[in-house]
Amino acid sequence: MHLAIIMDGNGRWASGRGLGRTEGHRRGVEVAREMVRACGDRGIEALTLYTWSRANFQRPVGEVTAIMRLLEWFVGECRAELLERGVRVRAIGDLDLVPTFARRPLERLIEETAARPAKMTLQLAIAYAARRDVAEAARALAAQCRAGMILPEEIDEAAVRAELATSALPDPDLVIRTGGERRLSDFLLLEAAYAELWFSELLWPAFTVDELDRALDDYRGRQRRYGKTPEQTQDARAQGG
Ligand code: FPP
Repeated sequence: MHLAIIMDGNGRWASGRGLGRTEGHRRGVEVAREMVRACGDRGIEALTLYTWSRANFQRPVGEVTAIMRLLEWFVGECRAELLERGVRVRAIGDLDLVPTFARRPLERLIEETAARPAKMTLQLAIAYAARRDVAEAARALAAQCRAGMILPEEIDEAAVRAELATSALPDPDLVIRTGGERRLSDFLLLEAAYAELWFSELLWPAFTVDELDRALDDYRGRQRRYGKTPEQTQDARAQGG
């Protein structure tokens, strides 16, 4: 199973306690770490965390720097545990926008974990924007056409999917968004076409393993029909499809 999470509500959690927004992000990283552990314990094969969008770079420079420091902290602090737990780390998004002090350790961790057998993949979306990723895929396919490697009529859904930054992982099965808002905010727009969506009222720093389990239980109870009728879906399930 591939679970993707939009971790929203750090700022509101902090201001509700009279704290600065950075405190919310600090607590948010702790919760992210707990969720990586919990997902590993539950046999979830892939977890994508929406850590920072391209649009988030428009925030005040102090907040951007604080998040980048937290990313650096996360990589340094969790490295040994991630290796021990067999977590393969990947990143999607424009890492060139990430300052060197955070990017280098992350790149090293990605390399280090890529070389080992993995039980779970942790995909961090950083400086990520789904529409931009689609535009880049289109550009790559256009370049392949110009180079005579493929014909325009050969471009199908699979060809587009293969050029997305997420191509190494299957589509997300479930997308959780915390913080009470009900939108995708430019996150995995094509990949989540058939994902189940689950919205939690809890702000991310207050998100718990119990709430994760509620989302997973709810997901297991839903019937995914991919455009078919309920009867067709049941038949397919009965046949193991
Ligand atoms: C949304 O809260 C949260 C973010 C934009 C950043 C999410 C980042 C983390 C949880 C920490 C980094 C995680 C790792 C794994 C390094 P918001 O600030 O938009 O909250 P608000 O909607 O209440 O203002």
